[in-house]
Amino acid sequence: MRSYSILVACALLGIFQTVSLSSSDSKRLSSYDAQVKELLAQMTLDEKIGQMTQPEQGPVLANPGDMQKYFIGSVLSGGDSDPAEGNGLEAWTDLYDRVQSEALKTRLKIPVLYGVDAVHGHSNVLGAVIFPHNIALGCTRDPALVEKISRITAEEVRATGIQWTFAPCVAVPQDIRWGRTYEGFSEDPALVEMLGVAAVRGLQGDLKNPLSVLACAKHYVGDGGTAATTAPRPEAVPKGASRLWLDQGDASMDEATLRRIHLPGYVAAINAGVGSIMPSFSTWNGVRCSASRRLLTEILKEELGFEGFLISDYNAITQIRPDDYKASVEISINAGMDMAMEPTSYAKFFNTLKELVTEGRVPMSRIDDAVTRILRVKFAMGLMDKSRSQLADRKLHKSFGSPAHRELAREAVRKSVVLLKNERNALPVAKDIARIHVAGKSADDIGNQCGGWTIRWQGQSGKVTTGGTTVLEAIKAAVSRNTSVTYSIDGSGAEGASIGIAVIGERPYAEGVGDTSDLSLSKEDVAVIRNLKKAGIPVAVILIAGRPMIIDSVLRQSDSFMAAFLPGTEGSGIADVLFGDYSPTAKLSFSWPKSMDQLPLNINVPKDRYSPLFPYGYGLSY
Ligand code: BGC
Repeated sequence: MRSYSILVACALLGIFQTVSLSSSDSKRLSSYDAQVKELLAQMTLDEKIGQMTQPEQGPVLANPGDMQKYFIGSVLSGGDSDPAEGNGLEAWTDLYDRVQSEALKTRLKIPVLYGVDAVHGHSNVLGAVIFPHNIALGCTRDPALVEKISRITAEEVRATGIQWTFAPCVAVPQDIRWGRTYEGFSEDPALVEMLGVAAVRGLQGDLKNPLSVLACAKHYVGDGGTAATTAPRPEAVPKGASRLWLDQGDASMDEATLRRIHLPGYVAAINAGVGSIMPSFSTWNGVRCSASRRLLTEILKEELGFEGFLISDYNAITQIRPDDYKASVEISINAGMDMAMEPTSYAKFFNTLKELVTEGRVPMSRIDDAVTRILRVKFAMGLMDKSRSQLADRKLHKSFGSPAHRELAREAVRKSVVLLKNERNALPVAKDIARIHVAGKSADDIGNQCGGWTIRWQGQSGKVTTGGTTVLEAIKAAVSRNTSVTYSIDGSGAEGASIGIAVIGERPYAEGVGDTSDLSLSKEDVAVIRNLKKAGIPVAVILIAGRPMIIDSVLRQSDSFMAAFLPGTEGSGIADVLFGDYSPTAKLSFSWPKSMDQLPLNINVPKDRYSPLFPYGYGLSY
């Protein structure tokens, strides 16, 4: 209860800070309208629609001349869209420069806005520092830390030339069976609001600063409030997904509930000056968010005064009327969508929208509004400043993935590890203990530590995903010279050790692939604890997972239990807590259920239904 009231107080403080920031620090986007108007007056319909069209880099570069033919105003790299030359820093920077140079060959030379999902660091690029996913940052309750992380993320993104990230995700996940739970800071709207604002500030700072990136609050709105269902999926079932699904589903609730739980993050982000917002794939009471004039125009633009632009989600427009593409474009643009993420079908989008305008089905005033919003952002970011090179500043490579950036990530990790059980003061472990036996599939696996949206869209298990420190490596580096550290993946051979440390949990996934009806620990994970127990030694468990899991039997058998969620590349932050260099401060950002049949379980369910294993805000210290 106490921590909850502190949180409420902090959230309120966050709001006050937001208000003061929006009135003093950030210049309103519409203050660029005189310059925008002048440029708009020179633009043909084709040039305007080009600003509204966003292809993937691969397809558009595969068709030489298309950047100019369609006057492309923005390009993205989706989760798996790497440079053809490989995934390193140089290759990404070369790719950005190539795309930008193509855009600068157009008549009006309007620079392209390049977008990526830098959702926990510049997470597509080898060697970037990978920060904890938002669920873990939620446990820190620390907006200043989130702002710093976002600042460093912006700098690493800018090192590749890229100026836009599809972050922060200000979803308020209400059901941890959702595969995107870890992308949300919390089930509590107040915490999401506080940290969402911090992320926007860190990413955008002063937008004119060449070290800033454009932020994108997503996915508007109610993506975290969709109901679990086993009904047939409207879209193809993602490979490996369970029959139960929530992702891109329906958020069925009245407007008051939507406003109370899912909207506050956007209100705060807009007050903090966020320049772009991504409407959700999901539906609200059966209507696609990307098709809802009520949501996009009436609430966001008219009521909340959002002056930036809306970018549709990946092929989301197609989903509005799968049988009729032209109607889909008409509905979405008229509802208020400003830019269309059309990874491969950009030419079709361009031609369709042009037809719609010519036929009078989309008014010219709507096109001008959309382009005005996009150009405002480009002016605000200094992209239209002729004295500035729009190519990447390679001097920034020097600090990419640097020790200083990794140190910040390590701090974030130690501040986000939640201690759930610590019997007989099993933790902290003495650094000069004789022997530690480390076990479990995630003990030596950077890929599992980082989770989805890391190098690959779905993430991937494995040591080689990208650079960093695994938990095993961190333990080895932390202990005294006289301590021996042994390791087996299954926990065998632990006899004679002073303590067993098991690192278990989920393997990486993203989006709908992570929807699940079963969050119990795998048989192999349970066996690891059993094997360590058999050795007759104390057992410390570290859970690496995108969300709370059903841990009953393992919790009973363990002497201590820590939830590290998805900590990213800097495993040393976990060792900091394990060995007592840092006394844990983190508190759960989600309620922890006893069993699957309690789900959905969160602080918004009626009190008589709320009986979690660990309540929201729970967390021990030493
Ligand atoms: C996701 C978005 C993401 C976009 C671009 C979509 O599948 O829903 O969160 O920004 O892809 O990669």
